[in-house]
Amino acid sequence: MNRKDLLGLFDLSAEEIWKILSLGLEYKAALKGGEKNFGQLRGKSAVILFYENSTRTRTSFELAAKLLGAHVINISVATSSVQKGETLIDTGKTLDAMLHDFLIIRHPMGGAPKLLAETVKAHVVNGGDGMTEHPTQALLDMLTLREHFGRIEGLKVAILGDIRHSRVAKSNLYGLGKLGAEVRMFAPKTLMPEGLEREGAVICSSREEAIAGADAVMGLRIQLERQKAGNFPSLGEYAKYYGISEEVLRLAPNALILHPGPVNRGVELTSGVIDGENSRIEDQVLSGVAVRMAVLTLLDRGTLS
Ligand code: CP
Repeated sequence: MNRKDLLGLFDLSAEEIWKILSLGLEYKAALKGGEKNFGQLRGKSAVILFYENSTRTRTSFELAAKLLGAHVINISVATSSVQKGETLIDTGKTLDAMLHDFLIIRHPMGGAPKLLAETVKAHVVNGGDGMTEHPTQALLDMLTLREHFGRIEGLKVAILGDIRHSRVAKSNLYGLGKLGAEVRMFAPKTLMPEGLEREGAVICSSREEAIAGADAVMGLRIQLERQKAGNFPSLGEYAKYYGISEEVLRLAPNALILHPGPVNRGVELTSGVIDGENSRIEDQVLSGVAVRMAVLTLLDRGTLS
């Protein structure tokens, strides 16, 4: 059956992920070649409904939809009727009544995009829900890796940082695992949830074990806004004992450096690593535009299955 929505990578097959990545690679090549005029969504409309802050995801979804020719409406939750107590379902029904083609949502509650998708006729795309999934971030990470290495299968990808609060880590674990990569994870015990080994993660007991011989090293942001209690003594101590530095990267001198952003400079990664020659953090941003164009196109065509 063709998918109406993109809610997460947990439910996607390897074939579906490859379909998105293949089209994403075509779009990225075209964007790099200067193409800015794609007509696949001409006459369609997309609403961007973000209940949490965002720079990269919001902007790249907007750009992706506009490059494809769609009309785009940004709803600022801070000035919408959400502030008067309107529920997510009622907001969804209202937008659906305007016959929009896409609702792109970010929400602090895990499962909110699914609830919306069950309510509306429009295609729903998850731009990040709580600590659950951020599928297009993982897709753009995979696109960046596939473009550089020419493959995903057999790659060793080390993910370090605030894994407990990270939807990016979970979507990458599901996606990379389905495509045959080894996903290593390391975090302070207070920032490592139970059970990810059952999803295929290799849980490491030190950052050195995670990084040694890795093809790619992904740092995750310390999500101070989701932490009620301190999970480590100070940011300085986090950087010293858990951060990714030039020194520790000697264990994987050719590893690509990824980070979903925004980065806490000097905490999860040193500035030298962020700006170093192996860093692909800026390239990830263009991958994000391309992969989001691919998702919107495939959902519109009804060929994501
Ligand atoms: N990677 C990511 O989700 O960044 P934003 O919060 O800026 O969208």
